[in-house]
Parts: sequence; structure tokens; C-alpha cells
Amino acid sequence: MFAFEHQRIAPPSGLHPMNCMAIDSFYVKANGEIPCWCSPGEHHPITRLDTEHPKSTAVVQDVLNGSVFKRMRQELREGRLPFDYCKGCSFLRNDGEDAWSRVDESDGTVKSLNTLQVESSFLCNVDCPLCVRLPVRRQVKDPPHQLSMELFTHVIDDLVTSDISVREIWFSGRGEPLMNPDFASMVKYGKDRLGALVTAHTNGNFSFRDELVTCGLDEIEIAFDGVDQETYGKYRRGGKLERVAQFAKDYSEAKRRLKTATPELVWKMVLFEWNSSDQEISRAIAWADELGLDRVLLMNTDTPGGMSYRDAGRRLREIEPLVERLDAEFPGIRVEIHGYHSTYSATPEVDCQLRVEQSDATSTLIAGRLFNHLLETRSVDVQVRLQSERGDADVTLVTASYDLPERAEHVNTFPIDHVGRENGDYRLWVSVADPVSGELITEAACDFSI
Ligand SMILES: C[S@@+](CC[C@H](N)C(=O)[O-])C[C@H]1O[C@@H](n2cnc3c(N)ncnc32)[C@H](O)[C@@H]1O
Repeated sequence: MFAFEHQRIAPPSGLHPMNCMAIDSFYVKANGEIPCWCSPGEHHPITRLDTEHPKSTAVVQDVLNGSVFKRMRQELREGRLPFDYCKGCSFLRNDGEDAWSRVDESDGTVKSLNTLQVESSFLCNVDCPLCVRLPVRRQVKDPPHQLSMELFTHVIDDLVTSDISVREIWFSGRGEPLMNPDFASMVKYGKDRLGALVTAHTNGNFSFRDELVTCGLDEIEIAFDGVDQETYGKYRRGGKLERVAQFAKDYSEAKRRLKTATPELVWKMVLFEWNSSDQEISRAIAWADELGLDRVLLMNTDTPGGMSYRDAGRRLREIEPLVERLDAEFPGIRVEIHGYHSTYSATPEVDCQLRVEQSDATSTLIAGRLFNHLLETRSVDVQVRLQSERGDADVTLVTASYDLPERAEHVNTFPIDHVGRENGDYRLWVSVADPVSGELITEAACDFSI
């Protein structure tokens, strides 16, 4: 039933026992896909639950404690990475002991879950540049794009009957949880059946409704990635800050009216290069306090555009004392800084990928792709060379300069004529450099034979 692509790689030094979310957590996507977790795993779902006939799968027996997950846990326990893509994954950690206490090491089955992540919707109403872009959402993933109540309840029921307890149900994923019309019913069902802590992340571009208080949510993080429309909208494209503020204000008023302390309302602010001045951070905390929120979570991120993308934490160290001071100044609200370590820290600003597209006796065709990961245009100088092991070729095929718009790709193909070339091993080599400093951004090579 499962394809298990398997590669043995030496573990990164110092990581033992290895730990990743897949050891003791489980992620169900809106269309029934089960990836190991987010990050690179999201592109390689391990299996897909039957959305037409949800009850046809024994979720715990065949998936959570099925052969692939059991093997993944055993591989990690023995210090090996189960998949090639684990190498770049930001969820690979070395704080394994707590996670391993939930696993029966004799057979790799999990006895309780730390986090059940639920992507109640793959749809969204805001177009964040590092996420799946709004216009292509319906094309990049097979439907259904909304998690059905039937599949959700089946997963929960199967966990209950299998006696797997769950510490936390986390409504998040690639989409916007509140876009699912059954969101509140899902929260209530999960809370009632599992008694777990239930949390959610939202962009807050909604009208508030009382069921968001009464459904049993323990905590909701509302995205406030700026304190004015200009800085907020740089990342939260199409989002309206005024609407988010109204949503948060109505939420805190409803809690007071309904006389309940839950859910905890969190002002979640991803710190970018453009929204994290001292004034903006101070304004954020004062505004969260005015709106009646309970907590401010400042998220330091190393994704492109993130406050720590270029400066390796310098600005973070500067704001720490400010945040400490503001936390004391506003006793009604807790202020915290969290870190988010992404796979981008190991990715060059512009990626280059090459592959042999076609090859026959007379020619080889190599396809190349440059991708600009930044949230701004990146100018690059590109040089493409053909080299041969025997030394009969060392020629520059292309020198070009490009202005790659944000998150955009540039593709090219390189036809290599075999006529007049000696048989042997050849390499197409591409270097991508900064046009001002001349510094190398990245390089890539593609080997082929004639
Ligand atoms: C992808 S969002 C989806 C949930 C929901 N639509 C939202 O906007 O909160 C999941 C979480 O990722 C966070 N996030 C988005 N962009 C981020 C970034 N560049 N770095 C760190 N966290 C980010 C959001 O604040 C949110 O809490």
C-alpha cells in the first residue's frame, strides 16, 4: 500500500536520539493526505485517507501505527534519516527523549500523540507570498479542499477506540482553518471526544461569531503581522488589518459577555524586516492590550523577509530588552518571543536546478531552472559552462544577467550537440553570482555522457 523511498544517510553529528514531529504527532490534510509533517514532508505525502469512504481505513492500525510510520520511528531511533528529504527538514531535532516516551520501542508503535495537526481547510482568503499562492490553490492540490466532518470524526473516533490519547489538537496547516464551515463543530467534537487542548491559527479576516467562544477552543493565534495596513499588507496580501482588529476586539468582548476565560487570545506577529522597529513592536503590545487580548507572541523567523533572514539574530538580541521592558509595562498581557527555524536558512537566495531532459545518440538536452526565493527582485549574473573530463571542452555557453522578480522562476534549456565531440563524461556547470559584489550565490552541475 505504501511506497517507502528509503535512503541511509549518516545522521547529523550531535543528534542522538533523533526526533521529529512524525515520531509522536500526526498531520491530516484537508484532502486526506498524511505527510510526515509540514516542511519538506508536505510535498511527499506518505499516504492518503479515502475521502469518499472515510471509514474504510483503520487510521491508527494502518497509518499512524502502520508499516511506514513504524519504520520511520525505528530508523530515527537508530540514528538514520528515513527519507532523503529529511536532510533539510527544520523539524529534525535532538530533544528526542520526551517524544520517545510516547513510543513503544519494541515495535515502533505510538501509544499517545503529542500533536494532532488538522488542516480543516486548504483554501485561504489571504495571499501570503511564502505560502501556496491564492490563484493556484485549487490546482496544486487534489480536491477536496475542505476537510469533511465525516473524515475528521472518523480520525478522532479511531484514536478514541484505539485508546490513543492526544495532548493537543492544532488547527493549522497550509490553509485558513476558519474557512471550513464545520470548523466550530470540529473543535467541539475533538474537545469532547479526546479532552485535548485545542488551538488554532487564523489570519482573522472574518466576522466574529459567538460559536468561536463556545466551541471549546483553548487558544487562538490571530495573525497581526504589522501595526498599519502598509506593513501588514506586505506579507498578508489582500488582508485588511482593520478587519483583523475588529475580529479580535469582538472576540475579547464576547468572552467578557459570555463570562469565560477561554480561548486565550493571542496577537501573533511574525517579525519581518519591515514591521519590527522598536516603535512598531511597542505599538503592537499597546494595541493588543487595548483590544483586550491575553498574549503577544512575537515570532522571529529566518524565512526570506524575516527579521533574522539576513542578520543571524543581531536584531533579535537588540529587541529582547525592549520586549522584557514592555512585558513589565503591560501587566495585563504576556509578551513572548518565539523562534522559527525554517529550511530557508540552508537554501540560497536563488536556487539552481539542472537535469537531463532528453538524450540520444546525437544530442543531450539539459533543462535548467532558477528560482528566486526572496520577497523582492533579485538581480543575478549567470554563467553556464560545458566541461569535459578529458579536457576537449571547456567552453562558456551562456553569460547573462537577469532581474528575477520575487518568488519567480526562470527556465532555460541547453541543447548539447554530440557531433564533433569525443565520447566521454561531460558536465554542464552553472554559477549564479551577485552582479555588484561578484559573490557566488549558488552553483549547480549536471553530469552526462556522450
Ligand atoms: C501558514 S499559516 C496558516 C494558518 C492561518 N491561515 C494563519 O494565517 O495563521 C500557519 C502559521 O504560520 C505562521 N507563518 C506564516 N508565515 C510565516 C513565516 N514567514 N515565518 C514563520 N511563521 C509564519 C502564521 O503566523 C501561522 O501562525
